[in-house]
Amino acid sequence: MPNRVLSGMQPSGRLHLGNLLGALDNWKALQEDHECYFFVADWHALSTNYADTSHIKEFTHGLLIDWLAAGIDPNRSTVFVQSSVPEHAILHLLLSMMVPVPWLERNPTYKEKQEEIKEKDLSTYGFLGYPILQAADILLYKPDSVPVGKDQLPHLELTRELARRFNNLYQPVFPEPKEHLTQFPKVTGTDGRKMSKSYGNTINVSDTEAEIRKKLKTMVTDPARVRRTDKGNPDVCPVYDFHKILSSSATQEQVNQDCRSAAIGCIDCKKMVADVLVERLSPSWERRASLMARPDDIQDIIRNGQNKASIVAKATMKEVNEAMKI
Ligand code: TRP
Ligand code: SF4
Repeated sequence: MPNRVLSGMQPSGRLHLGNLLGALDNWKALQEDHECYFFVADWHALSTNYADTSHIKEFTHGLLIDWLAAGIDPNRSTVFVQSSVPEHAILHLLLSMMVPVPWLERNPTYKEKQEEIKEKDLSTYGFLGYPILQAADILLYKPDSVPVGKDQLPHLELTRELARRFNNLYQPVFPEPKEHLTQFPKVTGTDGRKMSKSYGNTINVSDTEAEIRKKLKTMVTDPARVRRTDKGNPDVCPVYDFHKILSSSATQEQVNQDCRSAAIGCIDCKKMVADVLVERLSPSWERRASLMARPDDIQDIIRNGQNKASIVAKATMKEVNEAMKI
């Protein structure tokens, strides 16, 4: 049996370049030789968006399409929506009975997020319990490892603690999942800050070629390079960050020299980045166009994913109920 991996993402908007180069490229590589489960965590999105649920369905569907367009292959990987497999909620309930509240309160992301998102009331039970739902998501599928960024490590540690607690209290049901740490390249947004939906500075996988070229044109550069004749400093230029991620090392070297000597202008430099981006994203545009022409196939993919995930989730819940004598 190949190793099993499971990971999820919240549907908080369209997939952007940061997600693509971090998570999705890694998922695509994993699906070559692992049994993969990837799901859209739409219930998790409620933990911060319970008051306004108007976009959740649209974002959930959009994210799934973005994954498929990016190259997640539904014939190799199981892709599904969390809320279509109610066992996630059932296991969450059972685990909530045995998790000491201080384990949740000491979770660093709990306090950080509350500080960060001041405009919403996050003093809810569901927000505190976010990591229990995540533990349920994971443990239901007994994965060998969970590909995540390092911000998720506290959640994974809690998942393992809960698995141990369950196994000790009743019977050994849950293997402890390992993390598969994903290196997220630092992707800068068009305004020079970290690329993030909340800053509105993203380049999205679903953007058209025209949108991408336009975003590049208005992207900030070395602020000290005002005139074409000014010499630039690539080290402080967000456009050069893109070269570092996307261009060949020969091109990077050339741009670096030519920027410092003012042999190249920012307009040409940005055009080079736009060109590599277009090349990088064209396969996903083709896959998207072909998918969108077959809406019935999209429905089939979603239903198949739900069926495959449900079989595993139901089998685990049977063991859980037996272990707990319910
Ligand atoms: N908390 C994760 C994030 O914000 C999303 C998530 C929910 C997840 N359930 C999961 C990730 C299970 C991995 C496994 O990115
Ligand atoms: Fe940035 Fe390129 Fe302009 Fe140099 S030439 S400042 S690297 S955009």
